[in-house]
Amino acid sequence: MLEWKDEYRIGIEAIDHEHRELIDLINRALTAMATDAPSPQREEAVREHLGEIHAQTSAHFALEEQEMVQSNYPGFADHKADHEALLDTLLDMMDEVPEEECGTLPQRLEERLALWFSNHFKTFDAEIHRFRTEAN
Ligand SMILES: [Fe+2]
Ligand SMILES: [Fe+2]
Repeated sequence: MLEWKDEYRIGIEAIDHEHRELIDLINRALTAMATDAPSPQREEAVREHLGEIHAQTSAHFALEEQEMVQSNYPGFADHKADHEALLDTLLDMMDEVPEEECGTLPQRLEERLALWFSNHFKTFDAEIHRFRTEAN
């Protein structure tokens, strides 16, 4: 499970709120994937959960990117590249779904997302807040 930590709070209410919602959504999907018994429907269910995570994550990234463009944020390109890298990972995982009835995918997804979000919140996202605080 992904865990919300206070150190992830970046100080921009709308973004902090979405980060918590994303963690909740991912945890619900991970729980569902872990408890789905192997069945012909499992492959479809895992694909759906991955699609939902991808959609919500990419909507959240769009909000942040809009925020960065509006404030002429200098680190926009690097930040966006880190967003794109995660979205590519999610798409790659969707392509892997049929293998061994999804095999180790939920566990790899959990590890990848937990690592990516904790690093990204504390570095790239926190940097947006630092920039805004200095600019004002
Ligand atoms: Fe974010
Ligand atoms: Fe971000």
